[in-house]
Amino acid sequence: MILRTLDDTHAYGAKLAAVLRAGDLVVLAGPLGAGKTALVQGIGAGLGVRGPVVSPTFVIARVHRGGRLPLVHVDAYRLHSLDEVDDLDLEVDLADSVMVVEWGTGLVEQLADAHLEIRIERSAESEERTLQLVPHGGDWPDRVVALA
Ligand SMILES: Nc1ncnc2c1ncn2[C@@H]1O[C@H](COP(=O)(O)OP(=O)(O)OP(=O)(O)O)[C@@H](O)[C@H]1O
Ligand SMILES: [Mg+2]
Repeated sequence: MILRTLDDTHAYGAKLAAVLRAGDLVVLAGPLGAGKTALVQGIGAGLGVRGPVVSPTFVIARVHRGGRLPLVHVDAYRLHSLDEVDDLDLEVDLADSVMVVEWGTGLVEQLADAHLEIRIERSAESEERTLQLVPHGGDWPDRVVALA
């Protein structure tokens, strides 16, 4: 999947939001400035959540309500263990929400039986981003086909 502009990334996030269900876990991988937060902004817009989705680096996690499903947005950059994720005390039942985690690779996968991994790469010469969807368990292999 090639996303040429920020608008494309926002639009793709909204498309992704349409297939999300309660209990879903999405793990975003990619370097600084790859567009992870931008993708979450699109997901938030697609779900229709209230409040702007911003980089949660200093807050670690935010819960956005008011949409089709609550959106739990986590930036795990400074977290080192799954316990620290549990300790965030998010006051939301993950089974009822969608959780999207930036920098969550190797850290949060055990929060759900299945998850979708999204790898984002940035081009050195342009604004182009390349997305790779990697399904891990559940019916993600089928759902990924619908997102291609
Ligand atoms: N095609 C594109 N998709 C997404 N972002 C883009 C694109 N082209 C340019 N950008 C810019 O790249 C930046 C992406 O920033 P963003 O905060 O989403 O990255 P991030 O992966 O969350 O970084 P961090 O690891 O610091 O959290 C923004 O400044 C955005 O405007
Ligand atoms: Mg970010």
